[in-house]
Amino acid sequence: MERVSGPCDPDPQARAWVEIDAQALAANTQAIRRYLGAQTELLAVIKADAYGHGAVTVAEVVLAHGATWLGVATLGEAIQLRRAGIEAPILLLSGVNTAAEVAALLYWRVEPTLAMGEQVFLFAQAAQSLGQTLPVHLDVDTGMSRLGIPWSQAADWVRLVYQTPGLRLASLYSHLATADDPDPQFVYTQQQRFEQVIQQVRRWGLPLPKLHLANSAGMLLDRQLHYDMVRVGLALYGYAPAPHLAGILPLQPVLQVRARITQIKDIAPGTGVSYGQRFIADRPMRLATVAIGYADGVPRALSQQLTALIGGRRVRQVGMITMDQLMLDVTEVPHAQVGQVVTLIGAEGDQRITAEDWARTLNTITWEVLCGFRHRLPRVLGKLPAPLVQEVS
Ligand SMILES: Cc1ncc(COP(=O)(O)O)c(C=O)c1O
Repeated sequence: MERVSGPCDPDPQARAWVEIDAQALAANTQAIRRYLGAQTELLAVIKADAYGHGAVTVAEVVLAHGATWLGVATLGEAIQLRRAGIEAPILLLSGVNTAAEVAALLYWRVEPTLAMGEQVFLFAQAAQSLGQTLPVHLDVDTGMSRLGIPWSQAADWVRLVYQTPGLRLASLYSHLATADDPDPQFVYTQQQRFEQVIQQVRRWGLPLPKLHLANSAGMLLDRQLHYDMVRVGLALYGYAPAPHLAGILPLQPVLQVRARITQIKDIAPGTGVSYGQRFIADRPMRLATVAIGYADGVPRALSQQLTALIGGRRVRQVGMITMDQLMLDVTEVPHAQVGQVVTLIGAEGDQRITAEDWARTLNTITWEVLCGFRHRLPRVLGKLPAPLVQEVS
């Protein structure tokens, strides 16, 4: 017999969790909103479950504090937002290729990117057969060489969209490839190409739709890149896209990662720790086993390079990180005990560990670290739970 009820919802803070600081997210959104001119809209990029932060919660907060558009990468992500009752306009930033997808776009009121000329016919046919008009956002490839119609042909396709029943040109946009680079030269090459398309459309006397070009880095780099809308992801989550763009806005990290100690043990000199015994104690040590591992988004490649915070003190992680658990050296933290909360990303007292720190160690980017927390960790709204130390008998 199938059991449908019972004690099946464990305390989300029993083991390991991601904490979302909604106040920080609201403050970041407001800071960005204030930085933009009144005529520039803010599209919040919340693809990949809002970079691991939880798309529905993030959508609700950013829309309440100044964002007017949402951007996602897949139809499934858009439908999740609509099912949660989110009504704001949604731009699908990646391509769709079938009539069934277009029908779903129309049904859920999701606005697609027009990234290839051929899609004009697919979109128009599908929309016409349903007797509807599909708003489309024409993506101009000005140098990213990913999605988009090459800038030299884009104006022709703009004209065609205007002539095609069943389609409405909602925006014309492009994506910057190097806006976080200390040398901004190629950003302006891309902008010039974008401007060429705009000028051609103007010369033909066609109306200009909404124009947008900047991601977080572009927004911070130069107000001339703002146009009618900016598409911002990383900055909303509290990180600058590059060191030279830090400090322009007062951004605060939104995501914290915490886990509890599940066991404390003393080990003798010569004792090996974890798979492969890569760490051998050279003195009597006290270890804390913590209930978080690589299946939760703590990359195994951080093994022996990670630090964590316990009661405001920084400790090092030893041995290989395993799927569900990792070990910390708590020899110098005599008060460490089972049930205590450990911070992997976040602040305790004046100590802070950021996703940027992890990215630097891993030789990757902050975006990738944040997107890693999508699978197993429950998300909790708020700040560090009190009491910090759970009493255990
Ligand atoms: C088309 C597009 N616009 C905007 C963004 C947001 O970028 P960022 O997170 O750097 O602000 C992305 C993210 O990759 C994107 O693909």
